[in-house]
Amino acid sequence: MRRRYESTMKNLLSVSDLPDSDLPGVVARALEFATGKREPSLDGRIVGTYFRKTSTRTRTAFTAGALRLSAQVIAYGPEDLQLATGETAEDTALVLSGMVDVLVARTAGSTEELHAFAAQGRMPVINAMSAAEHPTQALTDLSTMHEHFGRIEDLRVLYVGEGNNTATALALALSRYPGVRLELRTPPGYGLPADYLARASANARRSGAEVSERHDMDDLPPGFDVVYTTRWQTTGTSKPDPDWRTVFAPFQVSAKLWETSPAATFMHDLPAHRGEEVTADVLDGPVSIAFRQAEHKMFSAMAALEWCLA
Ligand code: CP
Repeated sequence: MRRRYESTMKNLLSVSDLPDSDLPGVVARALEFATGKREPSLDGRIVGTYFRKTSTRTRTAFTAGALRLSAQVIAYGPEDLQLATGETAEDTALVLSGMVDVLVARTAGSTEELHAFAAQGRMPVINAMSAAEHPTQALTDLSTMHEHFGRIEDLRVLYVGEGNNTATALALALSRYPGVRLELRTPPGYGLPADYLARASANARRSGAEVSERHDMDDLPPGFDVVYTTRWQTTGTSKPDPDWRTVFAPFQVSAKLWETSPAATFMHDLPAHRGEEVTADVLDGPVSIAFRQAEHKMFSAMAALEWCLA
């Protein structure tokens, strides 16, 4: 569909939409919000949220974040818009763009659908999680790491689990920071999509980071700063292989990983299933910052809204 309005509108459909010149500033702004800073910077703005799939953190983060910045919010659930009766994404967004200043959308569907929402060209669209990527989760992860370690550069991060939308966004984001070493250990058949791994590797070559992926848990190097996992059943997806749990079982994060990385911090995008992707003693223990990470969802949402609407 041709763009209806010519503008310098800033969509956040992928973490790659944030140029190198803006990414550190957005993370820094999230960190300001993490210290309690509040401004009426979105006074008079209206934020639309359209969540077709379940969400606890992201939906609340964007709603509460918008309200804390003095914006007002219109919330649409899965059945509220005429999308549910067959109106196109293009027509829907074109209409909304005359009334709403930014649309935060979780479809858990294809990125093409989000591009269809963005085709109108005057209302920025924020991807609150598509099948391919979860960019605002990556912003959350960056600000959480920065708060905890005082930097992102040079961190050694072990990602264990499915190469899902959180993993793709994390890889695209971390690979832009010099000295970062991101090691992905994903179950066979459930790795990062090849195009995302290629894009993250290209970022890493440019920035001086390292990204690697293996499909086993053997020969793990020591000394990771972060161990990160996500739940095995990614929101909005299902696994056709009835034996998928057997394939995932060796990728459970347990205290054993801390034998070789005793100083590692544990991160999880949540929701978690204790006893599946992570044992309860790790998730609820002193190494875990997963629930502080969840609070960063709102700080990064506030920064993302400001970036799109600035
Ligand atoms: N991490 C995350 O996106 O959580 P929700 O699915 O609850 O929004």
